Amino acid sequence: MKIDKVLVIGAGTMGSGIAQVGAQKGLKTTMIDTGPEMLDKAMKTISRSVEKLAEKGKLSEKPTEVIARVTASTDLQVGADADLVIEAVFEDLRVKQDLFARVEGIVGHHTVLATNTSAIPISAIGKDLSGPERLLGLHFFNPVPMMDAVEVIRGVCTNDETFAFGAEFVRFLGKEPIMVKTDIAGFALNRANMLANLEAMRLVENGVVTPEDLDKGFRLAFGRRMGPLETSDLVGLDVQLMAYTNVYMEERDPKFHPPAILRRKVAAGHLGRKTGKGWYEYNPDGTRKQ
Ligand SMILES: NC(=O)c1ccc[n+]([C@@H]2O[C@H](COP(=O)([O-])OP(=O)(O)OC[C@H]3O[C@@H](n4cnc5c(N)ncnc54)[C@H](O)[C@@H]3O)[C@@H](O)[C@H]2O)c1
Repeated sequence: MKIDKVLVIGAGTMGSGIAQVGAQKGLKTTMIDTGPEMLDKAMKTISRSVEKLAEKGKLSEKPTEVIARVTASTDLQVGADADLVIEAVFEDLRVKQDLFARVEGIVGHHTVLATNTSAIPISAIGKDLSGPERLLGLHFFNPVPMMDAVEVIRGVCTNDETFAFGAEFVRFLGKEPIMVKTDIAGFALNRANMLANLEAMRLVENGVVTPEDLDKGFRLAFGRRMGPLETSDLVGLDVQLMAYTNVYMEERDPKFHPPAILRRKVAAGHLGRKTGKGWYEYNPDGTRKQ
């Protein structure tokens, strides 16, 4: 794999994390966003994160050396010589399609294009590209510097070379590729996890088990740090309902249908930690009510 320069478009939560891990591995990384404020914030986030890693002895060089490899710009043109473009802008099909159309007009023919979408089909994002075979999904998990799995997703048009490059790049970053060979809704990890989450909600809805016991069981029996309902309160019940509805609408498979208990809680504004009430209740300081 010959790669020297990476262009990360969208310098938010995910983009800044992706730029950081690239720079930590010695790549020249340029972040693009729509305004200087977003880019300043991203640079500060990266600085804090690498300094923390250095304090913990997890960085093999000085933080300043890593940070020196990251540049920030609002001008897409500075990425014309990138070997790999990773898009991490808003989760909106039109925004992503428009962006890749512009990118395609700027970068060279050898450049691999990747999207970090959570749920939009890779094939839809690449629909209007003249070279959709060089587009793939690289689905990083949050927080990027800490999470070691990355889904490598093959769109309908993605060619073998691009798909294999995705795996190689993920390994180069020191992470593990999870190869998703078909472009399906929810990809592999969130899709499988979703079923456990939905079943957990149904079990509570049917009075089979309390949220407390279910979460405790997941922690003690399955070695998870948090159970599915604790996680649901953290992520936001509204965010989950939207994601599950999207997968259900695409698949029309009842196993993905969000249960009434989730729909009603969202309708009542019980969205989890952010509203003080979800599967559990929270004090104003964020601690859980007993
Ligand atoms: N947050 C997560 O946990 C998570 C996990 C996996 C994947 N994702 C996906 O990653 C992508 C980014 O998510 P995020 O949480 O980092 O979002 P975010 O809102 O933190 O960041 C998105 C950034 O993109 C910028 N942006 C929007 N349009 C742009 C454009 N045309 N050109 C340049 N920059 C643009 C915004 O200004 C913003 O800074 C989404 O597709 C999301 O679904 C998110």
